[in-house]
Amino acid sequence: MSQTPISDSATPATPSSITRVGVVGLGTMGAGITEVVARSGAHVWAVEATEVDLARGVKTIEGSTSRAVAKGKLSDQERTELLARITFTTSLSDLAEVDLVVEAVPESMEIKSALFAALDEITPAHAILASNTSSLSVTEISVATGRPSQVVGLHFFNPAPVQAFVEIVRTVVSSPEVVDTVAEFARRLGKEPVVVGDKAGFIANALLFGYLNHAVTMYEQKYATREDIDASMRLGCGLPMGPLALLDLIGLDTAYEILDTMYKEGRDRLHAPSPVLKHMVTAGLRGRKSGRGFYTYEAPHSPAVVVDAHTPNTAGEAVATRGIGSVGVVGSGTMATGIAEAFAKAGLDVIYVARSEDKVKAVRGAVEKSLEKAVQRGKLDEAGRDAALARLVGSTKLDDLAKVDLVVEAIVEELSVKLALFENLDEICKPGAILATTTSSLPVVEMAAITSRPQDVVGLHFFNPAAVMKLVEIVSTVATSDDVIATSRELCLRIDKHPVVCADRAGFIVNALLFPYLNDAIRMLEMNYADADDIDLAMKRGCGYPMGPFELLDVVGLDVSLAIQQTLYREFRERGFAPAPRLEHLVTAGYLGRKTGRGFRVYA
Ligand code: 3HC
Repeated sequence: MSQTPISDSATPATPSSITRVGVVGLGTMGAGITEVVARSGAHVWAVEATEVDLARGVKTIEGSTSRAVAKGKLSDQERTELLARITFTTSLSDLAEVDLVVEAVPESMEIKSALFAALDEITPAHAILASNTSSLSVTEISVATGRPSQVVGLHFFNPAPVQAFVEIVRTVVSSPEVVDTVAEFARRLGKEPVVVGDKAGFIANALLFGYLNHAVTMYEQKYATREDIDASMRLGCGLPMGPLALLDLIGLDTAYEILDTMYKEGRDRLHAPSPVLKHMVTAGLRGRKSGRGFYTYEAPHSPAVVVDAHTPNTAGEAVATRGIGSVGVVGSGTMATGIAEAFAKAGLDVIYVARSEDKVKAVRGAVEKSLEKAVQRGKLDEAGRDAALARLVGSTKLDDLAKVDLVVEAIVEELSVKLALFENLDEICKPGAILATTTSSLPVVEMAAITSRPQDVVGLHFFNPAAVMKLVEIVSTVATSDDVIATSRELCLRIDKHPVVCADRAGFIVNALLFPYLNDAIRMLEMNYADADDIDLAMKRGCGYPMGPFELLDVVGLDVSLAIQQTLYREFRERGFAPAPRLEHLVTAGYLGRKTGRGFRVYA
């Protein structure tokens, strides 16, 4: 660490004066940042260490801008002008006249400190020096220079030309004017800036990487396949990419470094990089950039996934399935109604059982309304609607399920109530009928064990609204037979759902990955590191999430969220899964989210 005293060396650059920008390091991020800055009209000096690395950087930028032209985001003329605004060089001394430098070299304090010391010598006194570090201490980087007040973090998101968000990291010595200048510059690039303190992971990575690491652990433990883990988060939460595909995009070496730094700073076990990450990096499997990571790609840097030895080959599965002609649904709530509709629409005969005639009528009414909407939207014809309704029979007697091939229950989430139902179904249903639960939080094996046919009991976890959401988690207990899994998978495909298979652990795939992330966001709020608006913005703009964590918590309901988090904590005994006190307090106060008009936010 340099012993240079802290001093304000010169009047730093101002927003309007930033026209000449240096970018050092042309890896995935540096190349993207160069493209973004050149696009804004500034001239960029793009520096790499060797001619080979420089040529690779040039290729990345040429490829990305060509794709932007092909997609109509840029005209040919604009592309030519953009490229003409970049001077590619291997000489740092070419940065002698820049107003701002953005550093994007590997995540090593030694490399960054040495670079910043050199930049301090080369660049003019007014130049601002910014680091794109995703987890290293910007304060530590800044003291390698004689102008720490002009050093900030400027953290972009991958792919930098697409993600419209940056985190600006201010240290205890950053000058407020410099921070404002960089924020204004970010806006000129079309990026929404949020200013945060110097803490490993800042906002987005601090929330993202615990979740990504957890997904790697699931994969490592063979809890579910890579395809199923990724599909679960895309289809269950609407994320643009699954966690393992995202890690391949970020780069497994980068991800490892980020997690390692976060772990060393916070000592949170959930940030300790999953061992398989280290093994993959050691073996040269660094993700897209090396052509192989969790998936195999057509070529290094290509986004196109190709078949490899781990690609599931369901065609080769020799397990015979059980024929399913008719199904039963027990329950009359939102989930039961949606599931009954999905089955009937797909051509299955459905008997649904509710507790009263009124509830039987209500379910039918809700399905009629939903099908009518589908007709009006041109998604279903009238004959299809009538046929679906004709296949739907309501009853108040469980005995009417004696002949169905499969029953799904979607009743209240109370173990004693479900156990009583499974005992009854076991007596009523014919031998070989599959008994499924759509529980989201109870162990499926409990329901299996109460019956005389545990091999025929499975979890079929649908998502709300069940008639629309594509994902179904098929939960296999230690007792579930292979043909029940194969039959469930076939049935899901028949009703136009995307099945994923996982073991019987609290939260299955989606909730186990989603809720600890939401809980971490609440903890970040409790620590006053960032406010709810900035946290929501970071996840939406930085990572393409459809909703920020606080928006989502208020929609899901804080009571429901707390119950899921408690279940996860009870099962895994993981300190980091303990519900955030703020969540418990809001529930105690009756602030349950949108449904009560107040949760993390107040609604009109
Ligand atoms: N310039 C301008 N626009 C471009 C472009 C370019 N060079 N390249 C692509 N685009 C546009 C495309 O035209 C498209 O726009 P459209 O939606 O209007 O058609 C849009 O960007 C998306 O591009 P693609 O169609 O090529 O690709 P996808 O739709 O498959 O999306 C993705 C790809 C943007 C990567 C999306 O999957 C995504 O947002 N994933 C999540 C990424 C994420 O989480 N990033 C953050 C990671 S963490 C991080 O970076 C921090 C670091 O410290 C690790």
